[in-house]
Amino acid sequence: MGRYWDVYNGWLADPEAFWGEAAKAVDWFKPADKIFDAGSGQYGRWFAGAECNTSYNCIDRHVKAGCGAQPAIIYDSPVTGTKRTVTYAELLDEVEVFAAALAGLGVTKGDRVVIYMPMVPEVAVAMLAAARLGAIHSVVFGGFAANELAVRLNDAKPKVIVSASCGIEPKTIVKYKPLLDAAIEMAAHKPAHCVVLQRPMETAALKAGRDLDWSELVAKTRESGQKAACVPVKATDPLYILYTSGSTGQPKGVVRDNGGHMVALTWTMRNIYGVAPGDVFWSASDVGWVVGHSYIIYGPLLNGNTTIIYEGKPVGTPDAGAFWRVISEYKVAAFFTAPTALRAIKKEDPTGSQIANYDLTGLRTLFLAGERADPDTVRWAEQALGIPVIDHWWQTETGWAIAANPIGLEALPVKPGSPTVPMPGYDIHILDEDGHAVPQGQLGNIVVKLPLPPGCLPSLWNADERFGPSYTDHFPGYYKTADAGYRDEDGYLFIMGRTDDIINVAGHRLSTGAMEEVLSSHKDVAECAVIGAADALKGELPVGFIVLKAGVERDAKDIESEIVALVRERIGPVAAFKTVRVVGRLPKTRSGKILRGTIKKIADKADFKIPATIDDPAILDEIGAILSTRPIAG
Ligand code: COA
Ligand code: AMP
Repeated sequence: MGRYWDVYNGWLADPEAFWGEAAKAVDWFKPADKIFDAGSGQYGRWFAGAECNTSYNCIDRHVKAGCGAQPAIIYDSPVTGTKRTVTYAELLDEVEVFAAALAGLGVTKGDRVVIYMPMVPEVAVAMLAAARLGAIHSVVFGGFAANELAVRLNDAKPKVIVSASCGIEPKTIVKYKPLLDAAIEMAAHKPAHCVVLQRPMETAALKAGRDLDWSELVAKTRESGQKAACVPVKATDPLYILYTSGSTGQPKGVVRDNGGHMVALTWTMRNIYGVAPGDVFWSASDVGWVVGHSYIIYGPLLNGNTTIIYEGKPVGTPDAGAFWRVISEYKVAAFFTAPTALRAIKKEDPTGSQIANYDLTGLRTLFLAGERADPDTVRWAEQALGIPVIDHWWQTETGWAIAANPIGLEALPVKPGSPTVPMPGYDIHILDEDGHAVPQGQLGNIVVKLPLPPGCLPSLWNADERFGPSYTDHFPGYYKTADAGYRDEDGYLFIMGRTDDIINVAGHRLSTGAMEEVLSSHKDVAECAVIGAADALKGELPVGFIVLKAGVERDAKDIESEIVALVRERIGPVAAFKTVRVVGRLPKTRSGKILRGTIKKIADKADFKIPATIDDPAILDEIGAILSTRPIAG
């Protein structure tokens, strides 16, 4: 048995000793009374009694150790033609000042700060400044509509919102401020202040008394000589809330604590990603997603790496060589992206000809996550780059990989289609609906034996009562990942898809239930279903089916366009909801449950069996006929 199995079995034999040892990589103001306190929280709490500060561990510690001159953040923005390097010493200065500015606006320990910003270095400054004060940040992805932001404002109740005048998409400037104003207008909770970073491409109108210009605020704070020190927080205090799709329009506020998060992420940087302090680590995600939180900001900075904030796309900014340019320019050692981004590159540059234009000799490993890495894409990248391509599987809830190929510990053979093996911390079981283990090789519900390891969500924000129904009631003693999959004879896991109504669109997690709520709110819609249809580029694309109310005689195409616009307005462009079809009826079971799985198979042109419980099989032919007259791509 190799090193991975030694370490995994060592963890299994004594999890507290394992995490106690890993915790030595973090600087604590006060050590833990108990490595694991089984008696508190939803399933126990890690590092109970310890005191720490995440901002301190991400910045101050490295500056004190003499690494102040090392780049902490490289900002590379092909959409604005800007590049900037921020050293650890400069980052410390900016964070100390911005934290003092936030404190001046009344932000103290435990207060919430919502961050709604594009991919600029200031987003990291805002997150780390909140963490420095012991405040709890909640970053909202820029592609969400005002309504989604309003839902989050009502739940997180921030004292301050930090935003920017705009984000930049290849073809448009997305004006953030009108969206922010609309969200505040809609929300019952009103923040005391908004700090707005004015970008040269767009100047936002500021509301007197409430809104402050980032640069003016920072300049004023600097003039007064104020800098904020790190506020000690409990290891179990929240560092952030990150909202993610649940089965309804009310997103789940995943909470991340300070101590366990630092311990787990630091462990992953060394053992999964195999990077040492000083290495350049690049995750081409967005800070609005969990990958951005863990592997653009916290993981690399905790480990003393240089991280890259890239404001661009894999293609079109300017071409399919964009990623390879960044990797060669900054000598990236480990690169993390979503399979959909590689598929976008492959589509434009099928032979990978752009790769030859750049020196990628420093790149050791390519990591993929966010959606299933299809074997074709893995093989294409392996051949084009000539380095290991590592799929790893995780979720917003866990904050780090449940299964991976731990390059830092031992590079295990890659099996395309599998994210390899469970990481220490995760005792994986595969169960049938009744909670019995399924035989090896058979598909089942993937669950994690409780407790979850450090870094995973301790609960949902303001909603302890949703934790059990969401995660632990279905299979008592286990955390339900809501992913289905199987394990092969070598212990490799294969993740095949969700067991709930979550779909994965271009690596983004979206709820079809939330979209159905929007569809049914249209005045002409009697009932509806949204499914995730297979898409060669984005993995899945949402497709809606609507049945009109009796007596509605409007042109179906007009109603369909209104529905597409409504989803964009309520959820946002990120939903990529472009297709809806009016149908006469929806297929249902005799007890009235809509057969979404069967509709999906028809849309995907996959083989399917007519469900035994179907009310009227003729409806399936009707749906098939509509989709063949007006195909989804059309
Ligand atoms: N702010 C505002 N709008 C945004 C946005 C942001 N931060 N990010 C995306 N959008 C918009 C896009 O402009 C697009 O709008 P449109 O309908 O007007 O064209 C829409 O949301 C859908 O965006 P996206 O899913 O990114 O599709 P795309 O066609 O623009 O690009 C890819 C396709 C594959 C290049 C892109 O999805 C990608 O790079 N994906 C990587 C995914 C990723 O990193 N996921 C994180 C998990 S690891
Ligand atoms: P998110 O919470 O947005 O990170 O989405 C998590 C979900 O994305 C998981 O529950 C999976 O359904 C899917 N996912 C993420 N990474 C992978 C992967 N490597 N393989 C298969 N599915 C994945």
